[in-house]
Amino acid sequence: MKAVVLAGGEATRLRPLTCNIAKTMVPVLNHAFLEHVFGYLKKHNVSDVILALGRQSDQLQSYFGDGSDFDIKIVYSVEDFPMGTAGAVKNAERFLDSSFIVFNGDVFTDIDVTAMMNLHQEKKASVSIALTLVENPTIYGVVETDEKGRVKRFIEKPSWDKVTTNMINAGIYILEPGILNYIAPEAFSMFEHDVFPALLDKGDAIFGYSSDAYWIDIGTPEKYLRLNHDLLHRHISDEGVRFEGESVIHPAAQIEGPVIIGEGSFVGKNSIIKGPTVMGARCRVEEFAFIEGSVLWQNCRVGKEARLRNCVVASNCHIGDEAEVLDNCVLGDNVRIGNGNKLAKGIRIWPNKAIEPSAISF
Ligand code: GTP
Repeated sequence: MKAVVLAGGEATRLRPLTCNIAKTMVPVLNHAFLEHVFGYLKKHNVSDVILALGRQSDQLQSYFGDGSDFDIKIVYSVEDFPMGTAGAVKNAERFLDSSFIVFNGDVFTDIDVTAMMNLHQEKKASVSIALTLVENPTIYGVVETDEKGRVKRFIEKPSWDKVTTNMINAGIYILEPGILNYIAPEAFSMFEHDVFPALLDKGDAIFGYSSDAYWIDIGTPEKYLRLNHDLLHRHISDEGVRFEGESVIHPAAQIEGPVIIGEGSFVGKNSIIKGPTVMGARCRVEEFAFIEGSVLWQNCRVGKEARLRNCVVASNCHIGDEAEVLDNCVLGDNVRIGNGNKLAKGIRIWPNKAIEPSAISF
């Protein structure tokens, strides 16, 4: 089975991390996010991918090429303008001639898509939609099903008094190619609003595949950070430290896992790095610095006695001596935080900004 991976969105909510790179390229455990998606698809014997891209297509095409370096076959379907989730699949119609998967390119999950395919065939469905349970369905597309799993109703972002189920559309579909006839060519359309409700009205067999397996989308920095934490706990033991190449660690530095340290890094005397934390390649942590629960991309410098806690720091950032970056702060690429500054409570700093020393920012 082929998979169309949707990776042409604007990624506005993940800014400033996505000011310079596509959402699907942001590093998770030091690998481009899409590499994790490809790993998942291959596990389910899907090795033919159509990447549906927009604006940042050059970046992805030059990184992934024909996919051979990643042991997967990739072809590209590039949109001249954002066509929406359904419009993007219609645009890739020339590659699709039998049942296929559509996968939102910002989702990380353990949902058993093989079992979903089996159910799709067993039910002779024209559309199957993976459903996942969330605590707060009011910000998602809710999908109501009957006792046999047949979809009864779609409700977009219901208010609490309209919530009848916590099962939401997980952004993974299996479609029969005939569905493409119901999507307008060369136009913007969304499965959630324009296609699935119309198919339901027409009486098509749309089934939900409910799963309680792990599922998260990296749509916001908070969820991006959470995925990194979850995967660090999953792949590295609580005491574990993974070095991805040669690094220099001062004997008086303290590292408590789960931590990943990218190659060519330096961790100075009496500094402390506490997991779950991931540092990209060529980072430099000066003495008495403290880092906990954070994600740093490559080439970052953390100054003497600086503190980072539960934050995301993109590439080439410079955190000054005694500066603090805490609690869901997010720094874009090439940001300089001057000595002694204190950032907290989810402050986001756009790329290339320099905050003068001791210009306290909260
Ligand atoms: P926000 O701007 O933060 O809402 O992010 P987004 O643009 O990525 O939108 P959303 O999170 O709703 O998209 C879910 C998935 O569909 C992501 O993987 C997007 O890349 C993808 N997507 C959304 N719109 C389009 C589109 O017009 N074309 C393509 N090819 N993919 C899209």
